[in-house]
Amino acid sequence: MGGHSQRVIWTIGGGKGGSGKSFITTNIGVCLSKMGTRVILIDADLGGANLHTFLGILPPVPTLSDFIKKRVTQLHDLLIQTNIPNLKLLTGAQDLLNAADAKNVQKRKLLRSIKDLESDYILVDLGGGNALNVLDFFLMSDGGILVVTPEPTAIENTYRFLKSAFYRRLKQTVSSYSAKTLIDQTMDPKNEAGIQTPYDLFQEVKRINEEDGRRMMEEASKFHPNLILNQVRSKKDIEIGFSMRSACHQYFGIHLHYLGYIVFDQEVSNSIRKRKPLMVENDKSKAAQCLKEIAFRLAHSGSLDSFN
Ligand SMILES: Nc1ncnc2c1ncn2[C@@H]1O[C@H](COP(=O)(O)OP(=O)(O)OP(=O)(O)O)[C@@H](O)[C@H]1O
Ligand SMILES: [Mg+2]
Repeated sequence: MGGHSQRVIWTIGGGKGGSGKSFITTNIGVCLSKMGTRVILIDADLGGANLHTFLGILPPVPTLSDFIKKRVTQLHDLLIQTNIPNLKLLTGAQDLLNAADAKNVQKRKLLRSIKDLESDYILVDLGGGNALNVLDFFLMSDGGILVVTPEPTAIENTYRFLKSAFYRRLKQTVSSYSAKTLIDQTMDPKNEAGIQTPYDLFQEVKRINEEDGRRMMEEASKFHPNLILNQVRSKKDIEIGFSMRSACHQYFGIHLHYLGYIVFDQEVSNSIRKRKPLMVENDKSKAAQCLKEIAFRLAHSGSLDSFN
C-alpha cells in the first residue's frame, strides 16, 4: 500500500450469525487507530446494528437512513467521533439494505459516497446472510473478509457465501445476456447445462462469447477474499483455515487468503459486558494478541500474503 494517503476498504461478512464479525470489526478498527491511522467503522448490519454497543456509545442519530432518505446530503456529516482517537463510527442501516427500500440508484450512490469518505481505513460490518445487497457491499471492498468458526455449519455457510459473491462478481463482469443467464444457472448444482465448476463455466461462456469469457477469467483471477477463523480452541481448529484455503483453490479456483485465527477467550465476553473494546479493556489477553497480529497483517498488506 505504501504511505497512508490511500483509503482502504475492508468489508466483514459471510458465515453464520454470532461468528464474531462485529467484535472483530470493532477491535481491528481500534488496533489500526492505535497505530496512528484514521479509521471509520461502518455498521451496515441490516436490522442488527450494534457496533456502538461494542464501543460503549449510544446509538447515533442521525443515521445512514437519513442519508438514503436525503435528509442528510453529506455522508461525512453522519460520522460520530468515538472515545478512541482516530476512530469514527457511521451507523444506522436498519431500514436501508431492505430490498424494497434500497433501490439500485440509492445503493450505488451510497457505495460511491463510502468510497469518497476521508480516512485511511474503512471497515464495514455487513452482518450475516447473503442477500444480494449484502453481496454488493461485500464486493465493494478491496478485500472482503469472511469470519468463520470451526464448526461444519459455519464452514458450509462460508462456502455458500463465497460462491454467491464469486458468481455475482462474474455476472457483473460479463455483458451478454446469455452469459449472465448461464452464470445464474451455474448457481444450481443440477443445472441443465451440466456446469459443475468455474472452469466448466469459463469454457461455456467462452464458447458463447469470446470477449465475455476472457473478461470473466481475468476478473476471477483478481478475486481474493480473506478468511479469519474465530473462536479457535485447539491446534486442530487452526488447521481448518488451511484446509478451507486449499478447498477453495481446488473446487472454485479462488485464492482465499488465510489472515489468521483468534482463540476462544472468556475475556471477549467480559469486555463486551463492560461495553469496552477488548483492545482497550484487556489488550494483553490471548484474543487481543491474535487480533493485533491480524491487524498488523492488514496494515502491511500490499499484496496480502497469507500467514503460514
Ligand atoms: N474469540 C472469541 N472468544 C470468545 N467469545 C467470542 C469470541 N468471538 C466472539 N465471541 C462471542 O460471540 C458473540 C457474538 O459475536 P459478534 O456479535 O461479534 O458476532 P456477529 O458475527 O457480529 O453476529 P451477528 O451475525 O449476529 O451480527 C459475542 O457476544 C462473544 O461473546
Ligand atoms: Mg454483528
